[in-house]
Amino acid sequence: MGRIYDATWGWAFSALYDRILKGTEDAGMRDRRREVLSAAQGRTIDIGAGTGANLGLFPDGLTEVVMAEPDPHMSKRLRAKIAEQGADVELVEAGAEGLPFADDSFDTAVFTLVLCTVPDPTAALAEAARILKPGGQLLFVEHVRAEDPGVARWQDRLEGPWKFFADGCRCNRDTVANIEASPLTVDDVDHGELPKSPPLVKPLVWGRATLAP
Ligand SMILES: C[S@@+](CC[C@H](N)C(=O)[O-])C[C@H]1O[C@@H](n2cnc3c(N)ncnc32)[C@H](O)[C@@H]1O
Repeated sequence: MGRIYDATWGWAFSALYDRILKGTEDAGMRDRRREVLSAAQGRTIDIGAGTGANLGLFPDGLTEVVMAEPDPHMSKRLRAKIAEQGADVELVEAGAEGLPFADDSFDTAVFTLVLCTVPDPTAALAEAARILKPGGQLLFVEHVRAEDPGVARWQDRLEGPWKFFADGCRCNRDTVANIEASPLTVDDVDHGELPKSPPLVKPLVWGRATLAP
């Protein structure tokens, strides 16, 4: 969003991120993450891993966990957290649209609160599909466009200021439709709310999509 923005608010947002989300995580989001991530299998990549909210929530027995994060402020914190926890995780500083991995090389890809923020969700989903093996799965937890037209109208009106405040996050994306339009097929989707959050980002979806075997 620009060098000055990145160096100032981008830095501050990453510094405040865990504190901003703490109430939400404590009120149920961490449990939601754990529940969705419990389906992870094999070689797993967490795309747009941020400061590492999913660290420690993956099930035992995965063959490898990779975290990809392009933002240098976020990845600096993520690197420190991985070291502090002694987590067996590889960190790559890469964006969702260009992951430095071979085709068909992961069993599970994860997006949590990321498809709202990536500049091009179509490209991000195509790239996730590229690196997934045939039959591989995408696990997601994302806040989305409201089904209530009145709330969706407010999401459209406030998209610009929210995007500025929340480091590129769009509050009005229909992420399930974006996944359905990708090479993946949505197998399970649940709808609920992001706990303790403003109405603009309250509508939450979580679930699983797969690539044809
Ligand atoms: C709201 S945070 C979510 C972080 C983490 N996944 C979580 O669940 O807390 C959005 C993340 O998406 C990252 N991001 C932004 N653009 C991206 C891109 N093009 N590819 C991958 N991640 C991106 C941001 O740097 C940030 O870490």
